[in-house]
Amino acid sequence: MKHDTFEISHTSRLTPHILGLVRKISSRKFSSPIVVGCFLFFLLFIGFLFIGVAVAAGPAREAPAGFDNLTNGYVSQGVYDSARAIFEQPETVATGLGPIYNGESCVECHRNPISGGNSLKSVLRAGHEDPATGLFVPAPGGTLMHVHAINPAIDLRTPDSENIRSTRKATSILGDGFVEAIDDATLLAIARNEPEISNGRIAGVAVMVPVAEAGNILRVGRFGWKSQHASVVSFSADAYINEEGITNRYFPTENTALGKSVAEYDSVTDPEDERRSDGFSHVDRFVDFIRATKVPARDEKIAATPEARAGERLFEQIGCSTCHVTSITTAPAGTKIDGGRFTVPEALGDKVIHPYSDFLLHTLGTGDGVPVQSGGQTTANKMRTAPLWGLRTRPELMHDGTSPTPERAILRHSGEAQSVIAEFHKLSSQEKTELLTFLSSL
Ligand code: HEC
Ligand code: HEC
Repeated sequence: MKHDTFEISHTSRLTPHILGLVRKISSRKFSSPIVVGCFLFFLLFIGFLFIGVAVAAGPAREAPAGFDNLTNGYVSQGVYDSARAIFEQPETVATGLGPIYNGESCVECHRNPISGGNSLKSVLRAGHEDPATGLFVPAPGGTLMHVHAINPAIDLRTPDSENIRSTRKATSILGDGFVEAIDDATLLAIARNEPEISNGRIAGVAVMVPVAEAGNILRVGRFGWKSQHASVVSFSADAYINEEGITNRYFPTENTALGKSVAEYDSVTDPEDERRSDGFSHVDRFVDFIRATKVPARDEKIAATPEARAGERLFEQIGCSTCHVTSITTAPAGTKIDGGRFTVPEALGDKVIHPYSDFLLHTLGTGDGVPVQSGGQTTANKMRTAPLWGLRTRPELMHDGTSPTPERAILRHSGEAQSVIAEFHKLSSQEKTELLTFLSSL
């Protein structure tokens, strides 16, 4: 609406002037063909100018999409390339790797089909149930287990007693700058709307999680299989310490191996990720890279087929899109987010994205039993609606990667999704093919 108003008000103010000029042109004084030609060219130029201004000032535009290693405009291509190089750079014992870790570089687990994407690399979380209270208790030293150590004396085996185990595949970080730029209020409004449009059957939970760089102020979680983080800085700093063992200014203390200190094997002074000669730490670089990635692009050829279009309509009609939300608009440029530590820039603000997720937690019958740290015990068996953008690049589906095809993933949905899945079963085989064709375009 705003967009239309903008265009109309500007055009109407100029209309009398243009009409005046046209009248002059049609008078004999300006009748030379060259003058008329120049004037028409001028009119065309003004027209394009208006369209350009209207588009630039319009309230919301599509976020740039592509698997092309090009910046979305948040930083220059040069900064993007050098930040991506840090994301891809392996750590060594000399730079602080370990003493316990899961990978040497970010790209090791985020690479499909370009740096930042998904992978079949997984991490294990573990804990057990307190027999007296029935509540979840994390394994000693935290739920995240580690599979590599820099010294053979370090015991990496998860004891039998930690019998609640969750294997989670690496998610994609592509387009996460736009996801971060979604206002809390937008996600809360989606949460309020869900029971209304589903006769009370679906009610996603917005889990409040700490923002590490803003004194642990709470924000609506959106990243990871359990929406366990809300800011790109927090997730990156967390991944650096937890997956690679690199202490940093947000997480300055080394992990323990199942509660036992491994400090004696670490010869690098903490925090290991300091500001480098250029003034930036590696966490700063990961953040630049992640925020500057484009959103996953669709397969335009498949998307344009009549089958995919019909499938898209079915996806909405039978209620998949109640959780897998089709379109979300990011907060306007200038909005302060992440506890005031980040101001949404032009490149990320006012953008329409198609993540096919509400970023909320749901009971789907696939819960892994591990609560979100700050979310309380009721989140133990809830999972975040998996964003379906980039779906075609994931070789194995669902958090545990045990569903080999989208159809098998759909058939695992129960709990809150039960009535939607009942509708899926009622589709004719032709309609099922259409729905799956749509999914294959994502
Ligand atoms: C050993 C594999 C591994 C390494 C190394 C790794 N990650 Fe991850 N990453 C994962 C897994 C697994 C998840 C999903 C975890 C979950 O939700 O429990 C994930 C999720 C993420 C997410 C959330 C994406 C989203 O939208 O859901 C971000 C951001 C991220 N990683 C950043 C990084 C950065 C930055 C590095 C390097 C410092 C890194 N990761 C290194 C395995 C890894
Ligand atoms: C109640 C909310 C809800 C509804 C309704 C729903 N989903 Fe999901 N969907 C989820 C959640 C949550 C996950 C992740 C579950 C997990 O990993 O354990 C998921 C995962 C998926 C995946 C796997 C994605 C991946 O990357 O692993 C596909 C495919 C999928 N859903 C398609 C659909 C389709 C098609 C429909 C409609 C027939 C649908 N979903 C309805 C919540 C929902």
